[in-house]
Amino acid sequence: MTERPVARGVTAELLARHDRPGPRYTSYPTAVEFHEGVTADDYLARLGEADGLGDAPLSVYVHLPFCDERCLFCGCHVIISPDHAAAAPYLELLKREAELVADRLPHRRRFAQLHLGGGTPTYYSPEQLTGFLRHFLRLFRPLPGAELAVEVDPRVTTAAHIDALADLGFNRVSLGVQDFTPAVQQAVNRIQSLEQTAALVRRARERGFHGINVDLIYGLPLQTPETFERTVESVVDLGVDRAAVYSFAFVPWVRGNQKRIEEEALPSPETKLTLFALARERFLGAGYEPIGMDHFARPDDELARAKREGRLRRNFQGYAVIPGDDVIGLGISAIGDVRGAYFQNEKKLSTYREAVGAGRLPVARGVLRSADDEVRRAVIHELMCNFRVDTAAIGRRYGLDFERYFADDLALLRAEEAQGLARILPGRIEATPTGELFVRNLAMCFDRYMREKHAGEARPVFSRTV
Ligand SMILES: C[S@@+](CC[C@H](N)C(=O)[O-])C[C@H]1O[C@@H](n2cnc3c(N)ncnc32)[C@H](O)[C@@H]1O
Ligand code: SF4
Repeated sequence: MTERPVARGVTAELLARHDRPGPRYTSYPTAVEFHEGVTADDYLARLGEADGLGDAPLSVYVHLPFCDERCLFCGCHVIISPDHAAAAPYLELLKREAELVADRLPHRRRFAQLHLGGGTPTYYSPEQLTGFLRHFLRLFRPLPGAELAVEVDPRVTTAAHIDALADLGFNRVSLGVQDFTPAVQQAVNRIQSLEQTAALVRRARERGFHGINVDLIYGLPLQTPETFERTVESVVDLGVDRAAVYSFAFVPWVRGNQKRIEEEALPSPETKLTLFALARERFLGAGYEPIGMDHFARPDDELARAKREGRLRRNFQGYAVIPGDDVIGLGISAIGDVRGAYFQNEKKLSTYREAVGAGRLPVARGVLRSADDEVRRAVIHELMCNFRVDTAAIGRRYGLDFERYFADDLALLRAEEAQGLARILPGRIEATPTGELFVRNLAMCFDRYMREKHAGEARPVFSRTV
């Protein structure tokens, strides 16, 4: 046991009341509301509308799902294939899908943001990635100052990968770390040395990458405040520009690989919150600024500047700086956000292959957002990015009386206010410093689906908020 206190202002009772299943709000409505009534025809119609916007910048997300081996904690949509030859045809399908989308956007091919996520994009060789990206970059072109980002696993990423990506114009990189403690690494089947991580950070910096990010996870088996503090200190010593400190989303009923994690080895909710509070203290002490609910950035980093200037945005990758006006998703399970609707691709490789092979856009489900979805999305977005909502501005923007429209939601928020987590003021609402630790719970007050559909569900669809 540790003598360290749980985060400031957090009593055991407060924690018990708030540690419950809830979304991370990378979208609203969240992905569990996506349904099969939304089809490729809807996507075609919205792409047609999007093309009419001419020069408006796009964001593009490309999902590269393959990994050599499964980390036991992993909640991402991955395909484990030690046989690399089996993964090669996927790149051809991606090229074809990019062509199908590009055909529908003859006037709108310029992007402000390209993100390669996974899985592990650098599972592919530098030559394979270059082959796919050259093709993609002939179809879609970066705008001046565009952000080209890639997620890498330092265990499989070489200097040649970094060089190839830099040569193609990539300027942002995010490295998966999670925890440097050997016992924790063993418990999650992910052995990764500090040295290999440091070498990659150095190489990325030499090749002009900025906004270099490291991902950590708190709440993993065997983590203690002492071990996690050492991990955070190592990350600070690496001198990265940004760090994401994610709450471990433990959803074994959705991700079978997590069943192999020993539940008794997981830290308690109190310890979990202490781990985050400690990481926060260490990053702030080292001069980083807090960004949204789980990121930290150096004051001169783009993310910190965007936060100060009110330009921070939330998207499926977390927090973003220069999002396009529409998001194109390519690859299995990828989610697009085009002209007021979310579209998610087929999650299974076989169905994805079938659709793309037949020249069809591989949309499997989605949501066409209603006017009510849009205004709630704006409120939740403000809360998640800035911990406050300018309710007067929302009222003006959407032509409604905030107090009246959100009467039920504000009643829920008042209960949070009574517990010291929020303040409801004339013209604005805000999270208190303690409330910032529970911002997902505050956002849930404005989530209509949560209370009308998911309240009291026996089998939760979301991870716990702490
Ligand atoms: C696609 S992975 C990153 C790239 C690469 N595959 C790697 O692991 O280094 C994206 C990030 O998601 C986070 N992540 C994965 N599973 C998670 C979970 N169950 N809970 C919280 N974060 C998770 C990890 O921090 C991971 O670095
Ligand atoms: S955490 Fe990264 S490397 Fe590990 S299984 Fe998930 S996507 Fe693959």
